[in-house]
Amino acid sequence: MNVRFAERSTLRDVRAYRDQEPSNAEGGSRITFDLSSNELVLPPLPTVLVGIREGLSRLARYPDPTARDLTEEIARHLCVSADELAVGPGSAGVLQQILLARCGKGDEVVYAWPGFDAYPLLVAISGATSVHVPLTGSGGHDLDEIRTRISARTKVVILCSPHNPTGTMIDHGELHSFLHSLPDHVVTVLDEAYVEFDRGSNPPGLPVFLREHSNTVVLRTFSKAYGLAGLRVGYAAGPRQVIATVRKTAIPFGVTRFAEQAAILSLRSEVELRERLAAVAAAREELTAGLRELKLPVLPSRANFVWLPLASATESFARTAATAGVKVRAYPGHGARISVGETEAHRVLLAALGQRFVEAGSEMP
Ligand SMILES: Cc1ncc(COP(=O)(O)O)c(C=O)c1O
Repeated sequence: MNVRFAERSTLRDVRAYRDQEPSNAEGGSRITFDLSSNELVLPPLPTVLVGIREGLSRLARYPDPTARDLTEEIARHLCVSADELAVGPGSAGVLQQILLARCGKGDEVVYAWPGFDAYPLLVAISGATSVHVPLTGSGGHDLDEIRTRISARTKVVILCSPHNPTGTMIDHGELHSFLHSLPDHVVTVLDEAYVEFDRGSNPPGLPVFLREHSNTVVLRTFSKAYGLAGLRVGYAAGPRQVIATVRKTAIPFGVTRFAEQAAILSLRSEVELRERLAAVAAAREELTAGLRELKLPVLPSRANFVWLPLASATESFARTAATAGVKVRAYPGHGARISVGETEAHRVLLAALGQRFVEAGSEMP
C-alpha cells in the first residue's frame, strides 16, 4: 500500500532523539558503564520506593491531570505561588510545551552551542528555526554574541546554567544585565537542570528573580540530582501569564502518579539529597584530578559531569573509553562529556586512558 503521509517541512532535516545511537555497544565494543547521559548512579531513595509502590494498586486510573499535589509541594518548597508553576513529563517535556506555546514557522530560538542535544529537536518540532551561538573558549555563554543574534523573529532565548555539556555557570551579575537588556518580545528560558549540584536543593532568590524578570521562565527537573530520570518529571517556574499559556500545550495526563509521588517524597528528603550531592561532588573532583594527572584538559564543573575540550581528538578519546567498556558523550570537533559515575567506572576509564597514554608515549591532546 502506498502510504501518503507528508511530514511538515520543518521536520525534514530532523532526526529522532539519539536514534542512531547503540544503547549497549559503541563502535562494536560492549559497554559496561554508561557515563553518557548525566544520570545519577545512586539507587532511588528508600522512601521514594515505598511511596511509589502504593500507586501500583491504582494502575487502571488516570493520574491527576493537573498534578496538583506536586505543584503545591514545589510551590511551598520554592516559596512561589502554584500558578507560577507548570509541571510536565521531564523538563524536556515542559520545554517542548513552552516552545509550542510561543513559536511557529518563521520564528527563531537562540541558544549556545554545543548545548543539550534535545534543543534543536524541540525547536524543530515547534516549527521554529534554531540559531546557534558558539560557546566562548572557556566553555561559557557568549552573552554579547547571543544579544547581537536577537532579531524581530526571535521568540525565545535558551540559557543553560550549569551548562550542558561544559558544566560552566553564567555569572549572576551578567545574567541580570543580559535579561534586562532584552527586548520585550523575547522570552528567556533559563534551563537549570543541574542547579542542585551547584547550589543545593533550594537555591535562594527564585521568587525575587521571577518578579524582577517578568519575561523569564526557569526550568528544573527531578531527573538529575533527585535521580528520577526514569520517571519523567520536571517543571517550569515563571510569570503567571506565561505559565497559564504553557499549561495549554501539555499532553493530557503527562505526569504519572508514580512520578508525582516520587517527586513529592524527594522534595521532603532534604538531608538524603544533601548527602548525595556531596558524594557526587567528591566523585567529580576525584575524576577531574585523575584526568588532570593524565595531562588531559578538563574544565572545572559545577554539575554531575565533566567536559574535556578535546577538539579534533574527541572521537579517538571516546573510542578509547568505549573499547574499555565505558560510554562517554562525544561532541565531534568540540569535546567529550563524562558523567560522574560509579567508582569502578572511573577506575576502568582512567586505567584505559593511562594505558593509551603510555602506548602513545606522549601527552594526550
Ligand atoms: C540541560 C538539560 N536540560 C534538560 C534536560 C532534560 O531533562 P529531563 O527531561 O529528564 O527533565 C537535560 C537532560 O539531560 C539537560 O541536560
